[in-house]
Amino acid sequence: MDFSDFGKRFAGEIGIGELMDDLGDALVSDPAPLMLGGGNPAHIPEVQNIFRQRMGAILTKPGEFERVIGNYDTPQGARAFIGALAELFRDEFSWDIEPENIALTNGSQNAFFSLFNLFAGKFQGGRLKKLLLPLAPEYIGYSEVGLEPDFFYANRPEIELLEERLFKYRVDFEGLKIDDSIGAVCFSRPTNPTGNVVTDAEVSRLRELANEKGIPLIIDSAYGTPFPNIIYSDAQPVWDENIVLCLSLSKFGLPSLRTGIVVARKEIIRVVSRMTSVFSLAPGSLGPALAMDLVKSGDITRVSNDLVKPFYQRKAEQAVSLLKSEMGEDIPMRIHKPEGALFLWLWFEGLPVSSQELYQRLKQKGVLVVSGHYFFPGMESGSWNHMQQCIRVTYAQDDEVVEQGIKLLADEIKDIFSQKQT
Ligand SMILES: Cc1ncc(COP(=O)(O)O)c(C=O)c1O
Repeated sequence: MDFSDFGKRFAGEIGIGELMDDLGDALVSDPAPLMLGGGNPAHIPEVQNIFRQRMGAILTKPGEFERVIGNYDTPQGARAFIGALAELFRDEFSWDIEPENIALTNGSQNAFFSLFNLFAGKFQGGRLKKLLLPLAPEYIGYSEVGLEPDFFYANRPEIELLEERLFKYRVDFEGLKIDDSIGAVCFSRPTNPTGNVVTDAEVSRLRELANEKGIPLIIDSAYGTPFPNIIYSDAQPVWDENIVLCLSLSKFGLPSLRTGIVVARKEIIRVVSRMTSVFSLAPGSLGPALAMDLVKSGDITRVSNDLVKPFYQRKAEQAVSLLKSEMGEDIPMRIHKPEGALFLWLWFEGLPVSSQELYQRLKQKGVLVVSGHYFFPGMESGSWNHMQQCIRVTYAQDDEVVEQGIKLLADEIKDIFSQKQT
């Protein structure tokens, strides 16, 4: 069939498509593979119980269930929920926010499509602008979002080697060029795939640079502040009129309800809402309905800090210590300093096979990880060996799954490196 150029992009190989297919297959195959690959958040019993109770209240209050499922919200999203969010941001962070500064979307993934194509792509007179990713590696889900070819420009990071087999990516400000060909700057904080948290100092500097050029700074806070706040280092929540803050209820525990939150200046929110009306009429209503009380009471930040963050932090520490002990000292493995999100990013310097081949071998053994090469949108493939030496593993799954997965991973890696020597 002859698809349009637009259609062909989706008909070919797409990292995010492969990842979501693997995830879906894993859930139905028997025996299920050890899923260290997806970005699914954990089922945290205490958090799930909060939503169960809230659902019970919706079901028992006369007319409430029918109202929630039976009406479209406006394209901007559930008004009462947006009002409660604005109040939370004003009260807790003193941000100068009104309801007109917030739009809901069907997941934050959906918001990136609107936002990226709003700020980058073709402009009047045929001028092209790119979206700058100041710190590669970056989220796989950005890759195919831009409607124009060569949509992204990514900046190679500095690598800081740390003790205890850790390392940290830092923004290379020397190499960072923000000229008139850049339409916006975007980074995830914490970063998927690495668990890196761009430091407050780096954020301030990026903010200054974007302000100087009069372009927006998009901060993807799907795992970050103020909720679900899966951040183990210090990081201040930030917003001002030049920042577009993207939040989500997914990693707090509601991935299936597809609720994204965009906080931005009013003229941006108006256009994002219009786009939602075209793409999907309105955002879903169930996520806002389930999270309403948590936002209104401010409990969403308390639950984030007291339940969600410690849950993942414990699992991160456990996974790091298991990886180190299972790999042994001879394997050239370094782990990105785990500062947040649900992932560990492993770098095997001198890996004798490509990270895709490692992924395939592990899949044969029943372990799913994600090959690191997907996470460099905006960088030319083959331009840096490092891109083929990393994988992402998630520690969100049950402890036994993570443990077995790491053991099989270590066996395979040892095999690969020992074959190199013989
Ligand atoms: C960094 C990052 N941003 C955004 C998203 C999208 O999340 P959602 O569309 O569920 O809000 C994800 C999902 O994994 C992510 O990892």
